[in-house]
This record gives sequence, C-alpha cells and structure tokens, in this order.
Amino acid sequence: MEHTAGKIGIFDSGYGGLTILNGIRRQLPQYDYLYLGDNARAPYGTRSFDIVFDFTRQAVEELFRHGCHLVILACNTASAKALRSIQQQVLPDRYPGRRVLGVIRPTVEAVGEISRTRHIGLLATPGTVRSHSYRMEIEKLYPEMRITETACPMWVPLIETGEAGNDGADYFVKKYIDTVMEADPEIDTLVLGCTHYPLLLPKIRKFAPEGVNIIAQGEIVGTSLADYMRRHPEIDVLCTKGGDTRYLTTENAEIFDSLASVFMHDKIRSSRISL
Ligand code: DGL
Repeated sequence: MEHTAGKIGIFDSGYGGLTILNGIRRQLPQYDYLYLGDNARAPYGTRSFDIVFDFTRQAVEELFRHGCHLVILACNTASAKALRSIQQQVLPDRYPGRRVLGVIRPTVEAVGEISRTRHIGLLATPGTVRSHSYRMEIEKLYPEMRITETACPMWVPLIETGEAGNDGADYFVKKYIDTVMEADPEIDTLVLGCTHYPLLLPKIRKFAPEGVNIIAQGEIVGTSLADYMRRHPEIDVLCTKGGDTRYLTTENAEIFDSLASVFMHDKIRSSRISL
C-alpha cells in the first residue's frame, strides 16, 4: 500500500455531488478535496446496473491514481448500484487500504431521528428507486417505518441543463411531489435521495405541503464523515489538510465551470479528463 497522503475524492455523475462537497467542507474545512464530475456521461439515473458499476469503478480508480485514499460516492445512483461491488470485489484485491463510502446509509440513519409519523417519501432517480436500496436500509434500521419511493426522471436533466431556477421547471417539481404525497398522505418527511435535488430546493419547498420536513444530504454526509474520521485515524493520516479543493470533469471544462460556479457561489476552474 502506498502511504503518501492525498486529497479526499468526491465523485458524482455531474453537478449534484457539489451539494455534498459543500456539506462536507462546512464540517471538515481543513482537508483537501478532489471533485470529479462525470458530466459527459450524466445522467446515470436511467442507466443499467452494469453500466453504473463500470462508470463508477473507472471514476474511483481515476481518483485513486490522483492519490486519493478515501473516495466518497456523492451520488445515490452510484451508491445504490456500485458501492457494494466496489467494496467487496474491487478494493480487497486491488486497493487494500483504500476506502470508498456512499451516501445512503448515513441518510437513512438521520431520517429515523426526524420522522414522527414514521411515514417517509423518497424522491430519487429511477435507478435508485429500482434498486430499492433505501427501502432495504430502512427495513434493516427502522422496520416500523413506511417508505414510498418515487422516481423523478426529469429533475436531473433540468439541473444539468441549467433550468432549475426557471419557471418551466415548476411543472415537473410539483408533479413528483404531488405523486408521492397522494400515494401516502401521512408522509411527514421527504428525503431528497439524489444529490442533485438540493439545487431545486426553493421550488421543492414551494410545492411540498406545509410542515413536511425536507431532507437534503449535504450536512448529513458531512456529519457522518466527520464521525468516520474520528473513528478511523489510520485513514485520517492519509488525507492531506490544506483546505484546498480541485475539480475534474469529463465534459468541457468551461461548461462545467460556468454552472459549477453558480452552484458553489465561487469561481470554479476545473480540468477536463477522460475516463
Ligand atoms: N446525483 C446523482 C444521484 O444522487 C445522480 C444523478 C444522475 O446522474 O442521474 O443519484
């Protein structure tokens, strides 16, 4: 195993992982981060298991080549469809000592603390919904809870094309919220089970019934990672601490920079890579 410390890798199919990066940096500003968005091949949410696994493995290996020892899959679709196989089939043989973590488990743990009615709604990509990863985690941790899973296939495309703030997006935001609330009116907590969705938060808040909690994952994943670092000093020492963040994208860097800068409220300068 190579012992030179490196940045923490943050991977998403596109821009959504920036919401997780923000949450993580608020809790752990001292570390260095390397963000990779596979924008050229996004969205992942409608792709098959095999393809999401292949794409995610390629991205994780690229982040390892850049020196990361710890990679966060800041993408529910990749966490649902690729995390377990990467942890069980790829890491032990080829990268012992490196770690890959996902976003679903910490989210489910947090939701259990919040819902009073024990009826929750999941809004996610078709891939995450089809995997039933949230349902399975809920059944393990909170068997008394009822979860209604709703796919929102139009939300990621609206965000990736920069339409999230425009009036035309209202129709599709309202449509999926109405669908999940009609399926179970006792829902008191809506989980945004896709890291892109916080970019639609103002509209989601506008159309969700009053009093319903809306759970975005950034802070939750940040808190959970801070806890992980405390429990794993052997990984912590392999993560450099300079407060620096770099960005990689598989799309044209200028296109990435212009939208990422809006989402991050900061000037972003990425480099393009091929996977
Ligand atoms: N942001 C990702 C997620 O959390 C995936 C979006 C997509 O590429 O479809 O699921």
